[in-house]
Amino acid sequence: MSTPPTFETVACDAAKAAGRLIREHFLEKKPVSVEWKGLHDFVTAVDHEAEAAVLGYLKERFPEHAVMAEEGSPDEEAVDYRWIVDPLDGTTNYIHGFPEYAVSIAAVVDKRPRVAVVAHVPRREQFHAIEGGGAWRGSTRLTVSHRDHPGDCLIGTGFPFKHPELLATYLRQFTTVLRATSGVRRAGSAALDLTHVANGHFDGFWELALAPWDLAAGTLLVREAGGLVTNLEGSEDVIAHGPLVAGTPAIHAWLLNSLR
Ligand code: IPD
Ligand code: CA
Ligand code: CA
Repeated sequence: MSTPPTFETVACDAAKAAGRLIREHFLEKKPVSVEWKGLHDFVTAVDHEAEAAVLGYLKERFPEHAVMAEEGSPDEEAVDYRWIVDPLDGTTNYIHGFPEYAVSIAAVVDKRPRVAVVAHVPRREQFHAIEGGGAWRGSTRLTVSHRDHPGDCLIGTGFPFKHPELLATYLRQFTTVLRATSGVRRAGSAALDLTHVANGHFDGFWELALAPWDLAAGTLLVREAGGLVTNLEGSEDVIAHGPLVAGTPAIHAWLLNSLR
């Protein structure tokens, strides 16, 4: 008798398949059709195909589970078992060939991510976490950094490029963080920014306007690596549209205080 599939194995297989598909399209070097969803917000045929690949795995193995996926069902209601899928996080990077984009898949129960997979597509790296089971890059266990002095820290961020109304607030925050730390980086994939916190490359991260599919998987990776993830009010209830603050315990506290 075959063993039933686990959430983790299905999510890993789905992310691998979508990652392969995205890489193959990229290597074909054919111009990809790009649609405009809103201000600075793009979607390509590759986003749609990758999403269909992930949903194929999830619907076949767990037909009764609801799925919130960025391109097809972004308004899915919360239910007990809900998958949250960003089939291509970093679409603008993908369009320009900047090698920082990912597939992000999380299983969420009671508004908390319980299983997470983020595949760094160009680097063929896979990150995964299960609540209570640690965060991993392949077979390497991840821990957040031990830096606790802001002046020694490298901080990741995302610009509010789709929300000009947030720019003035963001620039004030940016000035504060830039003055106090070793540096600030903006690479263009929130899911991967959070993997950089989980593996200790970044000591903290903040962004003002993210969607559940940008942050669900990365949030669990950071928490399982020993870090903290909240909104700007300090609430752990982050599976929503809004701001996110992540980091080592010390740097998360410093960021929360500095950004407010
Ligand atoms: C975007 C990326 C980016 C973040 C944006 C997201 P997409 O996702 O995560 O880093 O700054 O807010 O929308 O559109 O490439 O899936
Ligand atoms: Ca995204
Ligand atoms: Ca996306």
